[in-house]
Amino acid sequence: MFDASRQDSTVSLADNGTVSEATYSLALIPGDGIGVDVVAAALVPLQAVADKHGFAVRQSTFDWSCARYLETGSMMPDDGLEQLSGHDAVLLGAVGWPAQVPDSVSLHGLLLPIRQGFDLFVNMRPHLLLPGITGPLRKSEFDILVIRENTEGEYSGAGGRVHQGTKIEVAVETAIFTRAAVERILRYGFEQARSRSGRLASVTKSNAQKHTMVFWDDVTDELAAEYPDVTVTRYHIDAIAARFVTHPETLDVVVASNLFGDILSDIGAAIQGGLGFAASANINPDGGFPSMFEPVHGSAPDIAGQGIANPIATIWSVSQMLQHLGERAAAADLLRALGTVTATPERLTPDCGGTGTTDTVAAQVAAAL
Ligand code: NAI
Ligand code: MG
Repeated sequence: MFDASRQDSTVSLADNGTVSEATYSLALIPGDGIGVDVVAAALVPLQAVADKHGFAVRQSTFDWSCARYLETGSMMPDDGLEQLSGHDAVLLGAVGWPAQVPDSVSLHGLLLPIRQGFDLFVNMRPHLLLPGITGPLRKSEFDILVIRENTEGEYSGAGGRVHQGTKIEVAVETAIFTRAAVERILRYGFEQARSRSGRLASVTKSNAQKHTMVFWDDVTDELAAEYPDVTVTRYHIDAIAARFVTHPETLDVVVASNLFGDILSDIGAAIQGGLGFAASANINPDGGFPSMFEPVHGSAPDIAGQGIANPIATIWSVSQMLQHLGERAAAADLLRALGTVTATPERLTPDCGGTGTTDTVAAQVAAAL
């Protein structure tokens, strides 16, 4: 159900449906491992689509990463958010180098502070098969949009450990759900559902988690009254996880908490052909801060430095970025070019069974423009 012209709309900074003459300032955070390769590769089709559609992109690169942490003791400088805040958007590769830096340090030292500090409360992840990609399921007719709450919930970081290393050690991690945050993410889900098929799946585990998740259900019911044109179905996380595999075609917009959305979008990535295809947009729809676009995958230390990382997820994220910036025609054109290239999987990277490299795939997308 690939349709390059139908992108999931976000609130735009500008509203240029066709050719613009704007200059966008883009902050690049390549990060670690294959993050560096895929960001460099994605800039090639970005330049091509900018030339074609008559806008310019001014880039600043930030070396914030685990390598920086090992040198300086921090993933990014103290005024990191301030340095990013003047840009129109952020493109991030991936961060993490678990052999030398604990993942809890790299995640809490860079990604989460940006998502939370810029209040990028929507994490939007499209899961569908690009042309030519079969995926592991024996069906292709699905088009799922996961909308993940991105600022609180299970990833709030509230908690602690006491009596560490002793037999009486205790670890507590409290999930935080505020009415403001639950309401705005659900509302975003309702709006997306309204602009698509009119179907919304709301994900909880309200049978077991009787405070936060019942609260989520209550707010869902309240909003449902405002959206009589949207059909809401409640799913428990375990049931919908299975449904992603058995009946993905029955789902459309799926709205979930930080943890549940994270897990579901890895299943979504798997059924769309792998992590090399899963794109994501971290959005602040109010436009007060730069939104951040990144592939769902991590730094893939097992293939880092080999030049074979699949750049498609990152290029798709660039398309989401252009959509958000208001360059709708360019966003659709870039997605169309991606589909032209994926239609011949032998030319893709080895994770898709092809013989291409990160750079040859990116070059083909640029050529298809
Ligand atoms: P991962 O996504 O880096 O890799 C999982 C598997 O998928 C690996 O076998 C890898 O080779 C493959 N893979 C991932 N992206 C690919 C691509 N573009 N092309 C071809 N194959 C690809 O996840 P993993 O191994 O759990 O984590 C590695 C590091 O990345 C950790 O430090 C982790 O914390 C970090 N990470 C960072 C994320 C981010 O920056 N947003 C997200 C997920 C993990
Ligand atoms: Mg994840």
